[in-house]
Amino acid sequence: MIPVFEPEIGEEEIAAVVAALRRGEISGSFGKSITDFEEHFAAFCGRKYGIAVNSGTAALHIAVAAAGIGDGDEVLLSASTNIATALAAYHNRAVSVPVDSEVETWNLNLDLIEPLISQRSRAILPVHLYGHPVDMDRLMEIAQRNKLIVIEDCAESHGATVRGRMTGSFGQMACFSFYANKIITTGEGGMVVTDDAAIAEKLRLLRNLAFSKPRFQHLLPAFNFRMTGFQAAMGLAQLKKIKSIIEAKRRLAATYNRYLKDIPGIQTPAQKDWALNVYWMYAIVVHPQFGLDRDGLIEFLAKSGIETRTFFCPMNQQPFLRSQSGYRDVPCPVADQLWKDGLYLPSAGRLTEREIQQVAETIQKAHESQRRV
Ligand SMILES: Cc1ncc(COP(=O)(O)O)c(C=O)c1O
Repeated sequence: MIPVFEPEIGEEEIAAVVAALRRGEISGSFGKSITDFEEHFAAFCGRKYGIAVNSGTAALHIAVAAAGIGDGDEVLLSASTNIATALAAYHNRAVSVPVDSEVETWNLNLDLIEPLISQRSRAILPVHLYGHPVDMDRLMEIAQRNKLIVIEDCAESHGATVRGRMTGSFGQMACFSFYANKIITTGEGGMVVTDDAAIAEKLRLLRNLAFSKPRFQHLLPAFNFRMTGFQAAMGLAQLKKIKSIIEAKRRLAATYNRYLKDIPGIQTPAQKDWALNVYWMYAIVVHPQFGLDRDGLIEFLAKSGIETRTFFCPMNQQPFLRSQSGYRDVPCPVADQLWKDGLYLPSAGRLTEREIQQVAETIQKAHESQRRV
Protein backbone atom coordinates (compact mmCIF):
# COMPACT_ATOMS: atom_id res chain seq x y z
CA MET A 1 0.00 0.00 0.00
CA ILE A 2 1.27 3.48 -0.88
CA PRO A 3 -0.37 5.71 1.76
CA VAL A 4 -1.74 9.12 0.90
CA PHE A 5 0.53 10.70 3.50
CA GLU A 6 3.13 9.92 6.16
CA PRO A 7 4.56 12.41 8.69
CA GLU A 8 8.33 13.00 8.75
CA ILE A 9 9.08 12.07 12.37
CA GLY A 10 12.68 11.24 13.19
CA GLU A 11 14.92 10.71 16.20
CA GLU A 12 15.20 14.52 16.63
CA GLU A 13 11.47 14.88 17.35
CA ILE A 14 11.51 11.86 19.69
CA ALA A 15 14.51 13.25 21.60
CA ALA A 16 12.92 16.72 21.81
CA VAL A 17 9.65 15.34 23.22
CA VAL A 18 11.45 13.12 25.74
CA ALA A 19 13.64 16.03 26.88
CA ALA A 20 10.54 18.23 27.30
CA LEU A 21 8.85 15.50 29.37
CA ARG A 22 11.96 15.18 31.54
CA ARG A 23 11.79 18.94 32.15
CA GLY A 24 8.17 18.48 33.27
CA GLU A 25 6.65 20.31 30.31
CA ILE A 26 3.50 18.20 30.24
CA SER A 27 0.87 20.93 30.31
CA GLY A 28 0.16 24.07 28.36
CA SER A 29 1.00 26.24 31.35
CA PHE A 30 4.61 25.45 32.04
CA GLY A 31 7.99 25.46 30.27
CA LYS A 32 9.89 27.41 27.68
CA SER A 33 9.11 25.25 24.64
CA ILE A 34 5.75 26.91 23.98
CA THR A 35 7.08 30.48 23.92
CA ASP A 36 10.15 29.34 21.94
CA PHE A 37 7.98 27.62 19.34
CA GLU A 38 5.68 30.66 19.14
CA GLU A 39 8.62 33.03 18.64
CA HIS A 40 10.40 30.89 16.07
CA PHE A 41 7.32 30.02 14.06
CA ALA A 42 6.07 33.63 14.04
CA ALA A 43 9.54 34.73 12.85
CA PHE A 44 9.45 32.06 10.13
CA CYS A 45 6.18 33.64 8.92
CA GLY A 46 7.57 37.17 9.18
CA ARG A 47 5.26 38.08 12.08
CA LYS A 48 5.75 39.49 15.57
CA TYR A 49 3.54 37.22 17.69
CA GLY A 50 2.51 33.59 17.69
CA ILE A 51 -0.19 32.06 19.92
CA ALA A 52 0.04 28.28 19.99
CA VAL A 53 -3.18 26.29 20.42
CA ASN A 54 -4.28 22.67 20.29
CA SER A 55 -5.57 22.58 16.67
CA GLY A 56 -5.94 24.59 13.49
CA THR A 57 -9.69 24.58 14.14
CA ALA A 58 -9.12 26.22 17.55
CA ALA A 59 -6.76 28.78 15.95
CA LEU A 60 -9.48 29.81 13.47
CA HIS A 61 -12.12 29.87 16.21
CA ILE A 62 -10.24 32.31 18.46
CA ALA A 63 -8.99 34.40 15.52
CA VAL A 64 -12.58 35.08 14.42
CA ALA A 65 -13.56 35.79 18.05
CA ALA A 66 -10.57 38.11 18.60
CA ALA A 67 -11.54 40.07 15.47
CA GLY A 68 -14.85 40.83 17.20
CA ILE A 69 -16.89 38.99 14.56
CA GLY A 70 -20.23 37.84 15.95
CA ASP A 71 -24.01 37.73 15.70
CA GLY A 72 -25.25 37.91 12.11
CA ASP A 73 -21.95 39.12 10.65
CA GLU A 74 -20.99 37.63 7.31
CA VAL A 75 -17.62 36.08 6.56
CA LEU A 76 -16.60 35.49 2.94
CA LEU A 77 -14.57 32.30 2.61
CA SER A 78 -13.26 29.83 0.08
CA ALA A 79 -16.05 27.47 -0.97
CA SER A 80 -13.55 24.64 -1.34
CA THR A 81 -12.02 24.20 2.10
CA ASN A 82 -11.95 22.02 5.19
CA ILE A 83 -15.09 22.48 7.30
CA ALA A 84 -12.94 24.05 10.07
CA THR A 85 -12.84 27.36 8.19
CA ALA A 86 -16.64 27.65 8.22
CA LEU A 87 -16.92 26.28 11.77
CA ALA A 88 -14.90 29.26 13.00
CA ALA A 89 -17.61 31.56 11.67
CA TYR A 90 -20.47 29.29 12.78
CA HIS A 91 -19.34 28.92 16.40
CA ASN A 92 -18.98 32.73 16.58
CA ARG A 93 -22.61 33.01 15.33
CA ALA A 94 -21.49 34.47 12.00
CA VAL A 95 -22.69 33.36 8.56
CA SER A 96 -20.30 31.87 5.99
CA VAL A 97 -20.66 33.20 2.45
CA PRO A 98 -18.88 30.81 0.08
CA VAL A 99 -16.77 32.25 -2.73
CA ASP A 100 -16.48 29.89 -5.70
CA SER A 101 -13.09 28.52 -6.81
CA GLU A 102 -10.80 29.36 -9.69
CA VAL A 103 -10.57 26.65 -12.32
CA GLU A 104 -6.77 26.82 -12.40
CA THR A 105 -5.53 27.24 -8.78
CA TRP A 106 -8.68 25.93 -6.99
CA ASN A 107 -8.41 28.89 -4.61
CA LEU A 108 -11.24 31.38 -4.09
CA ASN A 109 -11.88 33.44 -7.23
CA LEU A 110 -10.99 37.04 -6.35
CA ASP A 111 -13.24 38.43 -9.10
CA LEU A 112 -16.28 37.03 -7.26
CA ILE A 113 -15.65 38.68 -3.88
CA GLU A 114 -16.91 42.22 -4.42
CA PRO A 115 -20.30 41.25 -5.93
CA LEU A 116 -20.92 39.14 -2.78
CA ILE A 117 -20.19 41.91 -0.25
CA SER A 118 -23.24 43.05 1.73
CA GLN A 119 -23.91 45.46 4.62
CA ARG A 120 -23.17 42.56 6.97
CA SER A 121 -19.81 41.53 5.49
CA ARG A 122 -17.02 41.83 8.08
CA ALA A 123 -14.16 39.60 6.99
CA ILE A 124 -12.56 37.42 4.34
CA LEU A 125 -11.03 34.04 5.24
CA PRO A 126 -8.96 32.94 2.23
CA VAL A 127 -7.55 29.40 2.25
CA HIS A 128 -4.27 28.64 0.46
CA LEU A 129 -5.59 25.32 -0.81
CA TYR A 130 -3.25 22.31 -1.09
CA GLY A 131 -0.27 24.67 -0.72
CA HIS A 132 -0.89 27.05 -3.63
CA PRO A 133 -1.15 30.60 -2.26
CA VAL A 134 -4.01 32.99 -2.94
CA ASP A 135 -2.84 36.20 -4.63
CA MET A 136 -2.75 38.06 -1.30
CA ASP A 137 -1.60 41.37 -2.83
CA ARG A 138 -4.85 41.54 -4.81
CA LEU A 139 -6.95 40.17 -1.96
CA MET A 140 -5.60 42.75 0.52
CA GLU A 141 -6.47 45.56 -1.92
CA ILE A 142 -10.04 44.26 -2.18
CA ALA A 143 -10.27 43.96 1.62
CA GLN A 144 -8.89 47.46 2.25
CA ARG A 145 -11.20 49.03 -0.34
CA ASN A 146 -14.19 47.41 1.39
CA LYS A 147 -12.95 47.73 5.02
CA LEU A 148 -12.92 43.98 5.60
CA ILE A 149 -10.74 42.12 8.09
CA VAL A 150 -8.55 39.38 6.58
CA ILE A 151 -7.79 36.15 8.45
CA GLU A 152 -5.67 33.77 6.38
CA ASP A 153 -6.25 30.04 6.73
CA CYS A 154 -2.71 28.73 6.24
CA ALA A 155 -3.38 25.19 7.46
CA GLU A 156 -2.03 23.84 4.14
CA SER A 157 0.51 26.49 3.18
CA HIS A 158 3.43 26.65 5.66
CA GLY A 159 6.27 28.26 3.70
CA ALA A 160 4.29 29.06 0.52
CA THR A 161 4.97 32.56 -0.79
CA VAL A 162 3.33 35.30 -2.88
CA ARG A 163 5.91 37.34 -4.82
CA GLY A 164 8.47 36.14 -2.28
CA ARG A 165 6.39 37.04 0.79
CA MET A 166 5.19 34.34 3.20
CA THR A 167 1.55 33.29 3.35
CA GLY A 168 0.49 34.14 6.87
CA SER A 169 2.15 37.56 6.78
CA PHE A 170 -0.64 39.44 4.99
CA GLY A 171 -3.88 39.30 6.99
CA GLN A 172 -4.59 40.86 10.38
CA MET A 173 -4.19 37.28 11.62
CA ALA A 174 -3.22 33.97 10.04
CA CYS A 175 -4.04 30.49 11.32
CA PHE A 176 -1.90 27.38 10.94
CA SER A 177 -2.55 23.71 11.68
CA PHE A 178 0.08 21.26 12.89
CA TYR A 179 -2.17 18.21 12.54
CA ALA A 180 -0.38 14.91 11.75
CA ASN A 181 -0.60 15.31 7.97
CA LYS A 182 0.44 18.97 7.78
CA ILE A 183 3.75 20.33 6.37
CA ILE A 184 5.11 20.33 9.93
CA THR A 185 3.30 18.61 12.76
CA THR A 186 2.92 18.47 16.54
CA GLY A 187 0.44 15.56 16.26
CA GLU A 188 -2.46 17.88 16.98
CA GLY A 189 -1.87 21.62 17.18
CA GLY A 190 -2.21 25.03 15.62
CA MET A 191 -1.09 28.65 15.86
CA VAL A 192 -2.40 32.13 15.20
CA VAL A 193 0.21 34.67 14.07
CA THR A 194 -0.24 38.44 14.02
CA ASP A 195 1.65 41.74 14.26
CA ASP A 196 -0.97 43.36 16.49
CA ALA A 197 0.01 43.35 20.20
CA ALA A 198 -3.54 43.96 21.46
CA ILE A 199 -4.97 41.16 19.30
CA ALA A 200 -2.17 38.83 20.47
CA GLU A 201 -3.09 39.56 24.10
CA LYS A 202 -6.76 38.86 23.39
CA LEU A 203 -5.86 35.59 21.67
CA ARG A 204 -3.80 34.53 24.71
CA LEU A 205 -6.78 35.23 26.97
CA LEU A 206 -9.18 33.34 24.70
CA ARG A 207 -6.83 30.34 24.59
CA ASN A 208 -6.42 30.10 28.34
CA LEU A 209 -9.84 30.51 30.01
CA ALA A 210 -9.24 34.29 30.16
CA PHE A 211 -7.33 33.99 33.40
CA SER A 212 -6.52 37.47 34.66
CA LYS A 213 -6.32 39.13 38.09
CA PRO A 214 -7.62 38.13 40.55
CA ARG A 215 -6.85 34.68 39.15
CA PHE A 216 -10.28 33.08 39.34
CA GLN A 217 -12.34 36.02 38.14
CA HIS A 218 -12.92 35.86 34.37
CA LEU A 219 -13.87 38.86 32.24
CA LEU A 220 -14.47 36.84 29.07
CA PRO A 221 -16.12 33.50 28.27
CA ALA A 222 -12.98 31.87 26.87
CA PHE A 223 -11.69 28.37 26.05
CA ASN A 224 -9.01 25.90 27.01
CA PHE A 225 -7.24 25.58 23.66
CA ARG A 226 -3.72 25.26 25.11
CA MET A 227 -0.94 23.34 23.35
CA THR A 228 1.24 21.19 25.62
CA GLY A 229 4.95 21.88 26.15
CA PHE A 230 6.06 18.56 24.69
CA GLN A 231 4.05 19.22 21.52
CA ALA A 232 5.75 22.62 21.19
CA ALA A 233 9.13 20.90 21.63
CA MET A 234 8.20 18.59 18.74
CA GLY A 235 7.14 21.63 16.70
CA LEU A 236 10.55 23.24 17.24
CA ALA A 237 12.30 20.07 16.02
CA GLN A 238 10.00 19.99 12.96
CA LEU A 239 10.55 23.66 12.24
CA LYS A 240 14.29 23.01 11.92
CA LYS A 241 13.49 20.64 9.04
CA ILE A 242 10.84 22.70 7.28
CA LYS A 243 13.09 23.73 4.40
CA SER A 244 13.98 20.17 3.52
CA ILE A 245 10.36 19.01 3.99
CA ILE A 246 9.18 21.64 1.49
CA GLU A 247 12.00 20.81 -0.93
CA ALA A 248 10.93 17.16 -0.83
CA LYS A 249 7.30 18.14 -1.55
CA ARG A 250 8.36 20.29 -4.49
CA ARG A 251 10.55 17.48 -5.84
CA LEU A 252 7.63 15.08 -5.53
CA ALA A 253 5.37 17.51 -7.44
CA ALA A 254 7.94 18.01 -10.21
CA THR A 255 8.24 14.23 -10.58
CA TYR A 256 4.46 13.72 -10.72
CA ASN A 257 4.17 16.59 -13.25
CA ARG A 258 6.73 14.87 -15.47
CA TYR A 259 5.04 11.46 -15.38
CA LEU A 260 1.45 12.72 -15.68
CA LYS A 261 1.86 15.39 -18.33
CA ASP A 262 0.88 13.26 -21.34
CA ILE A 263 -2.13 11.52 -19.83
CA PRO A 264 -5.29 13.00 -21.44
CA GLY A 265 -7.87 14.52 -19.10
CA ILE A 266 -5.65 14.83 -16.01
CA GLN A 267 -5.32 18.39 -14.69
CA THR A 268 -2.22 18.80 -12.51
CA PRO A 269 -1.68 21.53 -9.84
CA ALA A 270 -0.99 25.10 -10.91
CA GLN A 271 1.97 27.20 -10.00
CA LYS A 272 1.40 30.83 -10.97
CA ASP A 273 4.54 32.78 -11.86
CA TRP A 274 4.15 34.93 -8.70
CA ALA A 275 3.64 31.93 -6.41
CA LEU A 276 5.68 29.33 -4.59
CA ASN A 277 3.46 26.26 -4.20
CA VAL A 278 4.48 23.97 -1.31
CA TYR A 279 2.24 21.13 -2.60
CA TRP A 280 0.91 20.13 0.83
CA MET A 281 -0.94 17.45 -1.13
CA TYR A 282 -0.47 16.69 -4.82
CA ALA A 283 -3.99 17.05 -6.18
CA ILE A 284 -5.39 16.33 -9.65
CA VAL A 285 -8.73 16.86 -11.39
CA VAL A 286 -10.14 14.20 -13.73
CA HIS A 287 -11.76 15.57 -16.90
CA PRO A 288 -14.00 13.64 -19.37
CA GLN A 289 -11.14 13.04 -21.87
CA PHE A 290 -9.62 10.66 -19.29
CA GLY A 291 -12.37 8.16 -20.02
CA LEU A 292 -12.95 6.97 -16.46
CA ASP A 293 -14.57 9.21 -13.84
CA ARG A 294 -12.92 10.27 -10.56
CA ASP A 295 -14.57 7.58 -8.43
CA GLY A 296 -13.62 4.96 -11.01
CA LEU A 297 -10.00 6.14 -10.86
CA ILE A 298 -9.99 6.06 -7.03
CA GLU A 299 -11.26 2.47 -7.15
CA PHE A 300 -8.71 1.47 -9.81
CA LEU A 301 -5.87 2.96 -7.73
CA ALA A 302 -7.14 1.37 -4.49
CA LYS A 303 -7.14 -2.07 -6.16
CA SER A 304 -3.47 -1.47 -6.96
CA GLY A 305 -2.69 -0.54 -3.33
CA ILE A 306 -2.61 3.23 -3.89
CA GLU A 307 -4.45 5.36 -1.35
CA THR A 308 -6.09 8.67 -2.39
CA ARG A 309 -8.57 11.23 -0.99
CA THR A 310 -11.24 13.33 -2.66
CA PHE A 311 -11.29 17.14 -2.64
CA PHE A 312 -13.41 18.85 0.04
CA CYS A 313 -17.19 18.95 -0.11
CA PRO A 314 -17.75 22.69 -0.68
CA MET A 315 -19.30 24.96 1.93
CA ASN A 316 -22.38 25.62 -0.26
CA GLN A 317 -23.25 21.92 0.12
CA GLN A 318 -22.95 21.61 3.93
CA PRO A 319 -26.37 20.81 5.43
CA PHE A 320 -25.84 22.56 8.79
CA LEU A 321 -24.59 25.75 7.09
CA ARG A 322 -27.54 25.72 4.68
CA SER A 323 -30.00 25.60 7.58
CA GLN A 324 -28.30 28.42 9.54
CA SER A 325 -30.37 31.58 9.93
CA GLY A 326 -29.19 34.23 7.43
CA TYR A 327 -27.72 31.61 5.03
CA ARG A 328 -27.18 32.90 1.48
CA ASP A 329 -27.54 30.40 -1.32
CA VAL A 330 -24.51 31.25 -3.46
CA PRO A 331 -23.95 28.96 -6.46
CA CYS A 332 -20.41 27.55 -6.59
CA PRO A 333 -20.27 25.48 -9.81
CA VAL A 334 -16.47 25.23 -9.91
CA ALA A 335 -16.16 24.08 -6.27
CA ASP A 336 -19.01 21.61 -6.94
CA GLN A 337 -17.09 20.22 -9.89
CA LEU A 338 -13.86 19.95 -7.87
CA TRP A 339 -15.74 17.96 -5.21
CA LYS A 340 -16.99 15.60 -7.91
CA ASP A 341 -13.82 15.30 -10.03
CA GLY A 342 -10.85 16.12 -7.75
CA LEU A 343 -8.60 13.81 -5.75
CA TYR A 344 -5.18 13.87 -4.25
CA LEU A 345 -2.44 11.31 -4.72
CA PRO A 346 0.12 9.89 -2.27
CA SER A 347 2.08 12.96 -1.19
CA ALA A 348 4.59 11.91 1.47
CA GLY A 349 7.91 13.64 0.87
CA ARG A 350 9.74 10.34 1.36
CA LEU A 351 8.13 8.67 -1.70
CA THR A 352 10.75 7.44 -4.16
CA GLU A 353 10.77 8.28 -7.85
CA ARG A 354 9.92 4.62 -8.49
CA GLU A 355 6.79 4.83 -6.29
CA ILE A 356 5.66 8.07 -7.97
CA GLN A 357 6.23 6.45 -11.37
CA GLN A 358 4.16 3.45 -10.22
CA VAL A 359 1.24 5.75 -9.27
CA ALA A 360 1.47 7.55 -12.64
CA GLU A 361 1.67 4.27 -14.57
CA THR A 362 -1.40 2.99 -12.74
CA ILE A 363 -3.28 6.16 -13.74
CA GLN A 364 -2.14 5.60 -17.35
CA LYS A 365 -3.40 1.99 -17.15
CA ALA A 366 -6.76 3.21 -15.80
CA HIS A 367 -7.03 5.50 -18.84
CA GLU A 368 -6.05 2.70 -21.25
CA SER A 369 -8.54 0.30 -19.65
CA GLN A 370 -11.28 2.66 -20.85
CA ARG A 371 -9.96 2.85 -24.38
CA ARG A 372 -10.42 -0.92 -24.59
CA VAL A 373 -14.05 -0.81 -23.42
C1 LIG B 1 -7.79 24.45 5.21
C2 LIG B 1 -7.85 23.88 6.60
N1 LIG B 1 -8.27 24.65 7.62
C3 LIG B 1 -8.32 24.18 8.87
C4 LIG B 1 -7.96 22.90 9.18
C5 LIG B 1 -8.13 22.42 10.59
O1 LIG B 1 -6.95 22.07 11.22
P1 LIG B 1 -6.96 21.02 12.44
O2 LIG B 1 -7.18 19.67 11.85
O3 LIG B 1 -5.59 21.18 13.03
O4 LIG B 1 -8.03 21.43 13.38
C6 LIG B 1 -7.48 22.06 8.15
C7 LIG B 1 -7.04 20.68 8.34
O5 LIG B 1 -7.08 19.87 9.07
C8 LIG B 1 -7.43 22.56 6.83
O6 LIG B 1 -7.01 21.77 5.83
